[in-house]
Amino acid sequence: LGVRNQKRINFLFSLYIQTVTHFVRIHHFASASSKTEAFTFDHTGKKMPVDESTAVGKTVCVTGAGGYIASWIVKLLLERGYTVKGTVRNPDDPKNTHLRELEGAKERLILCKADLQDYDALKSAIDGCDGVFHTASPVTDDPEQMVEPAVNGAKFVINAAAEAKVKRVVITSSIGAVYMDPSRDPEAVVDESCWSDLEFCKNTKNWYCYGKMVAEQAAWETAEEKGVDLVVLNPVLVLGPPLQPTINASLFHVLKYLTGSAKTYANLTQAYVDVRDVALAHVLVYEAPSASGRYLLAESALHRGEVVEILAKLFPEYPIPTKCKDEKNPRAKPYKFTNQKIKDLGLEFTSTKQSLYDTVKSLQEKGHLPPPSTSQESSQNGIKIES
Ligand SMILES: NC(=O)c1ccc[n+]([C@@H]2O[C@H](COP(=O)([O-])OP(=O)(O)OC[C@H]3O[C@@H](n4cnc5c(N)ncnc54)[C@H](OP(=O)(O)O)[C@@H]3O)[C@@H](O)[C@H]2O)c1
Repeated sequence: LGVRNQKRINFLFSLYIQTVTHFVRIHHFASASSKTEAFTFDHTGKKMPVDESTAVGKTVCVTGAGGYIASWIVKLLLERGYTVKGTVRNPDDPKNTHLRELEGAKERLILCKADLQDYDALKSAIDGCDGVFHTASPVTDDPEQMVEPAVNGAKFVINAAAEAKVKRVVITSSIGAVYMDPSRDPEAVVDESCWSDLEFCKNTKNWYCYGKMVAEQAAWETAEEKGVDLVVLNPVLVLGPPLQPTINASLFHVLKYLTGSAKTYANLTQAYVDVRDVALAHVLVYEAPSASGRYLLAESALHRGEVVEILAKLFPEYPIPTKCKDEKNPRAKPYKFTNQKIKDLGLEFTSTKQSLYDTVKSLQEKGHLPPPSTSQESSQNGIKIES
């Protein structure tokens, strides 16, 4: 071979390698303290260095990308053409595999290793982004695991966003920062102006609500100080089909009624919202220039008795409890709320009945619940539920 031909072959070979790599690419950013190593996976799963400049279009960061809500946010953002830098604590954990299977992930998903307590790792994930969706949070009632990581995470994300000059930060707070207030008039309508009573959360050892509230407060204070455009979402209990292979806390709320582990239901009420609506709300408030402040995300408030009744009608094959644990006191009444603010941005809520149906079907498909027998399946046919 002549030198010219050899050069041409070398050029074509390198072009082939680049093209193949592009199509099988999942970008990973592993950041250890301030040093950032970028890598991708080839079709055999082997880690390879990656050139970040190949990312096209607008880039946004989603923290806690592998979680229940964040996975749906990532899916939606990829479908809309964004390049997504998703932070996870362990990119190699099989519980994050579903992210690599999302449409567009091969070309436009970059996974960044980051803990909420690691400012440098969060900063390198947020650098170069137009927007940030901060969804990662501990979900626990252990005060040590909950409060400090939640507050530090919120502050670090806002500070990193300020340095990166991002357009907007969207934070996933919670109804826990809104309605835990024993002095609220039971007839009052819960809206975005309500805040939980911190002392009440502390005295009742409700460290999850306490942590979510102080983290949201820290986010607002830091955003004001640093001039960051912040929008906050306050979802109630989230239901709907999971993308991730594992069960999170809110899915357990439904699962326990189907596995026989809950023999009775509590004399309590709860508001519910579908995970797909929560994800869409994140994208809507990010994209709408007029969006500002907090947004309550709730479809309906139900007594546990109503939840088990819906489940029993849809899925009679499971050992769903029929008795209330508290037979003495009157049935608790659901609180009143308004979801008008997010509806004004165009969100149409999925009904909670539909959400419950889709949750159970998905838990069956993922092997968390035994599938119904054919005869039992036919008993559902009278119910008009879209799947
Ligand atoms: N589900 C609900 O009913 C509900 C209702 C209202 C608000 N929210 C809020 O929505 C957000 C997502 O919740 P989810 O239901 O999707 O829960 P989830 O599936 O448990 O997701 C939580 C995510 O946060 C990450 N995380 C936890 N501690 C972390 C830390 N120290 N550093 C870095 N990442 C950390 C987890 O990462 P790993 O995978 O590495 O553990 C996981 O990806 C949270 O902010 C939660 O408070 C949830």
